[in-house]
Amino acid sequence: MKSIDVDPGTLPAVDVERPGIVLSKRAQSMQASPLRKLAALAEARKRQGIKVYHLNIGQPDLPTHPLVFETIRNLKLETIAYAPSNGMPLAVQAWKKYFSHVGISFEESEIIVTAGGSEAIIFAMSAICDAEDEIIVFEPFYTNYNGFATLSNVRLRPIPLSIENGFHLPPRASIEEQIKERTKGILICNPSNPTGTIFTRSELETLVSIVREHDLYLLADEVYREFAYEAPFTSIMDFPVIHDRAILLDSTSKRFNVCGARVGVLASHNKEIVQAAFRFAMARLSVATIEQLALVPLLNDPQAVVPSLVEEFRRRRDVVYEGLAAIPGVTFYKPEGAFYIVIGLPIRDADHFSRWLVEEFAVEKETVLLAPAQGFYASAGKGTNEVRLAFMLNCSDLERSLKIIAAGLEQYKEKFQ
Ligand SMILES: Cc1ncc(COP(=O)(O)O)c(C=O)c1O
Repeated sequence: MKSIDVDPGTLPAVDVERPGIVLSKRAQSMQASPLRKLAALAEARKRQGIKVYHLNIGQPDLPTHPLVFETIRNLKLETIAYAPSNGMPLAVQAWKKYFSHVGISFEESEIIVTAGGSEAIIFAMSAICDAEDEIIVFEPFYTNYNGFATLSNVRLRPIPLSIENGFHLPPRASIEEQIKERTKGILICNPSNPTGTIFTRSELETLVSIVREHDLYLLADEVYREFAYEAPFTSIMDFPVIHDRAILLDSTSKRFNVCGARVGVLASHNKEIVQAAFRFAMARLSVATIEQLALVPLLNDPQAVVPSLVEEFRRRRDVVYEGLAAIPGVTFYKPEGAFYIVIGLPIRDADHFSRWLVEEFAVEKETVLLAPAQGFYASAGKGTNEVRLAFMLNCSDLERSLKIIAAGLEQYKEKFQ
């Protein structure tokens, strides 16, 4: 698994050899975070007195809204008991209300509260696929989809998107070509991590028509729904013709800036899917009681938090977009949403460049940590000259970081190309 959206933490290396005892193929094929080494290099550099700007992770740098902590302080619990497996009634009702705020109508019986959007995605994959079945994804994609697929014993079939058209969908025929006998669904991330692209209504119409014609499910990861800066965002739930095959995967993590609370949701009008997710949920008993309750006020009234957060990220997106225009040779587009951008660099090996930046380069004792984009692709050789930037710093730090990248590129090209 390539997990590069959170600090992956570290465990001691395992060097015990026990002949005859082997791990499962699943365990062996699960990759560790490719950023782990880069993050370790950044820590080493900091110890040398160099400031490192982190542009690599998807954890917002802003404080969580005080209402969340206030709610926790005011809880009157005698016991921290298991919550119902489908979610605490108050949390389920609050999700229903949240969805109604964004124009989506669900019954409470169509909602399963999950441990983050991550668990919702695993439940959805497991509900629609048998071992070795396939789900189509568009690459570059959120790297943990690899891990979720490995855990669920599902194969991802990537369809490449290109930076030149801002990572929008390819023609219908190129998508249909990849539908094979074992394809069970198409998973989209909209707005996208890592590209910031938002699929237009007409692109979604194409997908809706494809899943109907080929009898597939459409899974939509809409955890960045509100982070839409250009045009109004269209959800897959806006297409009643696929009410029986649309599965919505969502989370409080990003829009409420509560990544550590681990509260997400799977919702669908397809009762069989919801029942299947409910049974998966029963096996893991419940989602954390306190966090579910802590987020009820924000789900009931998302406007209290979301607009100001979105505006902050819009400002950052604009700073990054304008900053990139001043760097010769980079390929970029204007991200329509989320808080990421994938940029093409005028060099061959973005991994080597990122490593060199954090290990050797500095401008006035400051450098940056980037996420090489190769980790977001499944196809070999894709994204080798690309990096993903996450807008997790304030505007002036972002401006400074882009200047460091520009200076780094100039020096790197002289040195290595
Ligand atoms: C596109 C996307 N989907 C899902 C997740 C999982 O989020 P969580 O499990 O915190 O809800 C993330 C986290 O970064 C993400 O970027």
